[in-house]
Amino acid sequence: MASVAATEKSLAGRTAVVTGASSGIGRAIAESLGAAGAHVVLGGRTRSAMDESTARIEKSGGTAEAHVHDVRDVVQARALVESAVASSGRLDVMVNNAGVSYPEPIVDADPEHWRVMLETNVLALLVGSQAAVHAMRACGAEGHIVNISSVASLQPASGVYGATKHAVNCINESLRRELLDEPIKVVTIMPGAIATSFARNFDPAVLELMVSTMGGNTDPAQFTQGDRLPDEVLLAAQQAMSEHLCTPEDVAEAVLWAITRPAGVHLAELVVRPKKDLSL
Ligand SMILES: NC(=O)c1ccc[n+]([C@@H]2O[C@H](COP(=O)([O-])OP(=O)(O)OC[C@H]3O[C@@H](n4cnc5c(N)ncnc54)[C@H](OP(=O)(O)O)[C@@H]3O)[C@@H](O)[C@H]2O)c1
Repeated sequence: MASVAATEKSLAGRTAVVTGASSGIGRAIAESLGAAGAHVVLGGRTRSAMDESTARIEKSGGTAEAHVHDVRDVVQARALVESAVASSGRLDVMVNNAGVSYPEPIVDADPEHWRVMLETNVLALLVGSQAAVHAMRACGAEGHIVNISSVASLQPASGVYGATKHAVNCINESLRRELLDEPIKVVTIMPGAIATSFARNFDPAVLELMVSTMGGNTDPAQFTQGDRLPDEVLLAAQQAMSEHLCTPEDVAEAVLWAITRPAGVHLAELVVRPKKDLSL
């Protein structure tokens, strides 16, 4: 997947950690930060995808390292930040991006799915943010904590997934205020809909219908609930609905822009929407 082209090495000498960097939005952010000169520490569950991103970052003249971990485990979530400090001696940018959705009605849902969403979208983001603040303080960084929310956080009835993103917004604003007297900024990025493996837990029948409506291949074997979606399916969806979907690279552009503003500019929230937004 193509990364955002950084025209200058504005992040040279900085270290960035990106969670959920093995897919979709996190992958695009990691490659964008690497192209801008940061040493990038990628966290995720799929080694092969992160190795491909690491190779692309190194090809663009940057450096990167990939760590397979489970971000839901507090010790493993902290260890990703510790790896960044151990290998580079510093931490400047922390992107808490890993996230999952199980779109089920509350009355019929599996409580284990609620646990996975709460632990991935909220607990891991809290642990990552806290570990990042401690690491940034220790090295005196003018740091940036970038937390990936969603436009679902702006909707009052967006289910349990939306509730986790409402929580993300509340946590981010609270943390931003806690850090007002320190050189560490906190920004919330709220993307609109993007064709990524985020849809991995959707009902396969719904996915098949969506892809066929867009004129794509509907081989049912393409969709196994819980599995990452094939890149060619995601690309076809993106191309078929380009005006109604953002791209991972759009979000990566917003992240790079947010963390390269002058020191006196304090951005709290950014919403990244497609041209023709289907959500409220
Ligand atoms: N796509 C959208 O429409 C959309 C819109 C608004 C906001 N968002 C948010 O954007 C973020 C990224 O989503 P995406 O669209 O890029 O989805 P994605 O392609 O499914 O990527 C999710 C990433 O999180 C990782 N991850 C999930 N559970 C993990 C765990 N327990 N431990 C470690 N890594 C874990 C995944 O790893 P593996 O792939 O290796 O399993 C993957 O790298 C999420 O926070 C999501 O809520 C997405």
